[in-house]
Amino acid sequence: MTKVLVTGSAGFIGYHLSQLLLEEGLRVVGYDGMTDYYDVRLKERRHQMLLQHAHFTCKEGMLEDFETLHALALAERPDVIVHLAAQAGVRYSLENPRAYVDANLIGTFNVMECARELGVQHLLMASTSSVYGANTAMPFDEGQKVDTPLTLYAATKKANEAMAHSYAHLWNLPTTMFRFFTVYGPWGRPDMALFKFTRGILEGTPIDVYNDGEMYRDFTYVTDLVRGIRLLIDAAPVRPESPEDIAPGDSLSPVAPFRVVNIGNGEKVRLADFVDAIEAECGRAAMRNYLPIQPGDVPATWADTALLQSLTGYAPQTPFREGVARFVAWYREYYRV
Ligand SMILES: NC(=O)c1ccc[n+]([C@@H]2O[C@H](COP(=O)([O-])OP(=O)(O)OC[C@H]3O[C@@H](n4cnc5c(N)ncnc54)[C@H](O)[C@@H]3O)[C@@H](O)[C@H]2O)c1
Repeated sequence: MTKVLVTGSAGFIGYHLSQLLLEEGLRVVGYDGMTDYYDVRLKERRHQMLLQHAHFTCKEGMLEDFETLHALALAERPDVIVHLAAQAGVRYSLENPRAYVDANLIGTFNVMECARELGVQHLLMASTSSVYGANTAMPFDEGQKVDTPLTLYAATKKANEAMAHSYAHLWNLPTTMFRFFTVYGPWGRPDMALFKFTRGILEGTPIDVYNDGEMYRDFTYVTDLVRGIRLLIDAAPVRPESPEDIAPGDSLSPVAPFRVVNIGNGEKVRLADFVDAIEAECGRAAMRNYLPIQPGDVPATWADTALLQSLTGYAPQTPFREGVARFVAWYREYYRV
């Protein structure tokens, strides 16, 4: 039975991924530092739900604590590692940049060291659409240069891609980096727009809408996203023997078993339309506080998902109104409002 080490298992995406893997009969070992970046009770509840499965175990620990992480990796000897734990969030990286250096650079290095020592079949790690930075050619595809990160968050994730490429090359470690595009859904993150908007609308408090609502995001429903991750686990890259082994549109490295893959919905949604959908679900109007675009923010993201589709035969496609309805239903039940 395949065993998967999931870092960030108490996080939003880690929780949904672990549920899916367990439902499919895999073993999951979780690792999470339960950081207080947002309400820790949500993280505890997610872990509690996962612990209902006989094939889930978890350990609380920080990525920076190599001794604890390494001991767990050696004791469990996972076949695959999916590294999702990170200091996430674009805006917070202006307030507390050091948290990003610690978790995303040192932490990711520690995970890579464990993967190398164990010789795992496949290491998969989270990057972000934020690495496309100031690029304007849309939709964003994996072949574009990503040399203009606008925040330290994006810069640490871009660094992770480079670090991972070097290990894939040196140690022949099959590695896939995902670039996620604005993930949303039940059990989502309180620092993200959908959560804040829903809370504001239901509580009757103003919500901040940046760039006068002229922002566009490729919103990816979490169940679709983790389905994409699941399928990519089975699509470990193989080091090409010659340039002809690299299919057109594939981001496979010419010198390493390494590729980056966008996971997005492949559709860009106007923020103002997204707010309309939340209002419709909540049955109330928002008090919109229009503000200029924030430093480090980009006006639009939009994923080209052709590579994901060609590797897995799958592309996310939950319409945002449906996803918003499922989120609002979860929010109302969870907070009893
Ligand atoms: N949600 C999105 O829209 C989105 C978009 C792009 C990329 N990502 C990336 O996907 C991954 C998962 O994101 P998420 O939305 O589930 O975030 P999340 O914050 O809900 O989950 C991250 C988990 O990692 C843990 N963690 C954070 N720092 C840690 C550390 N130093 N040591 C140990 N554990 C630590 C946290 O406790 C949390 O449970 C992250 O790498 C994030 O950067 C997310």
